Amino acid sequence: MNTPHHIAVIGAGIMGQGIAQVMAQAGHRVSVFDVADGAAEAARTAIGEALARRVSKGRLSEADRQATIDRLHPVDRMDDLADADLVVEAIVERLDVKHAVFQELETVCSTDTLLCTNTSSLSVTDIADGLRHPQRLFGLHFFNPAPVMKLVEVVNTRDSDPALQRMLLDWVPTLGKQPVSVADSPGFIVNRCARPFYSESLVMLEQNLATPEVIDDCLTANLGVPLGPFALMDLVGLDINLAATETLWRAFDHHPRFRPAVSVRDRVEAGQLGRKTGQGFYPHPRPKAEHIYTAR
Ligand code: NAI
Repeated sequence: MNTPHHIAVIGAGIMGQGIAQVMAQAGHRVSVFDVADGAAEAARTAIGEALARRVSKGRLSEADRQATIDRLHPVDRMDDLADADLVVEAIVERLDVKHAVFQELETVCSTDTLLCTNTSSLSVTDIADGLRHPQRLFGLHFFNPAPVMKLVEVVNTRDSDPALQRMLLDWVPTLGKQPVSVADSPGFIVNRCARPFYSESLVMLEQNLATPEVIDDCLTANLGVPLGPFALMDLVGLDINLAATETLWRAFDHHPRFRPAVSVRDRVEAGQLGRKTGQGFYPHPRPKAEHIYTAR
């Protein structure tokens, strides 16, 4: 397969929007599809606004902003993705829905199209299960916010074609990203290692030992991470975070180390998903933080 030029992004939510921006900024023609009416167009508008902020700060020229926007094409039907060289799926984190999308893609796209999923925690092997050409399905796991975060996990399964994997690992740096080759296993590398970061903080909260603000402030101040666990859960989405935890919990035979926290589950049931709903562990937009260093 040749180096990809026409990229299709399926799902224009938090991640799809960011991934479409990365691809368009790297010079690719990008077709964006979402089942929700107007979502792909809204993502294009939001990318335009994000880039306009960079222009106003002198970090991007107006000509480059316009050229990037011109490369983004919202489309209404999956059929419009027929001539894509590479598809990145970034839809809802549900195996049945992802299955249906990839099965449709097999009928829409040519056999040369490389198929990628941005799943954060589902098994890529399970997503490929039942496909006619499972060797061309990879995980291409971007992190949030995709235009900013450098790392991309390139997830291969036992069926993966090594030549396609090599091509992906060589291509990802052209997007300004750092690839890491990862075998398909629960949570890949980052999301698996991140579980204790979240879970121990949640235990402290549930034991009323410290507030989210204090835990976040302590960890950002001392670990050098840009966001603490609660601010990060609000950014990622508590629903996405819970789905990842539940997947790992099941995959590791309900080991207590991965047990989902009540305080996350309760918020998800109440529709408090973080920034995208205006309320998570914090209200959004967040009032200016008062740094009061008492534990609770
Ligand atoms: P989101 O909820 O913001 O967006 C999902 C979008 O997919 C929505 O616009 C929805 O209308 C659309 N959609 C749902 N079903 C569809 C279908 N059948 N066809 C086309 N569009 C469909 O979700 P988000 O956060 O962007 O996550 C997307 C994927 O990326 C998930 O697999 C998630 O696990 C993964 N991911 C999420 C990260 C995060 O920080 N939120 C980080 C890395 C990966």
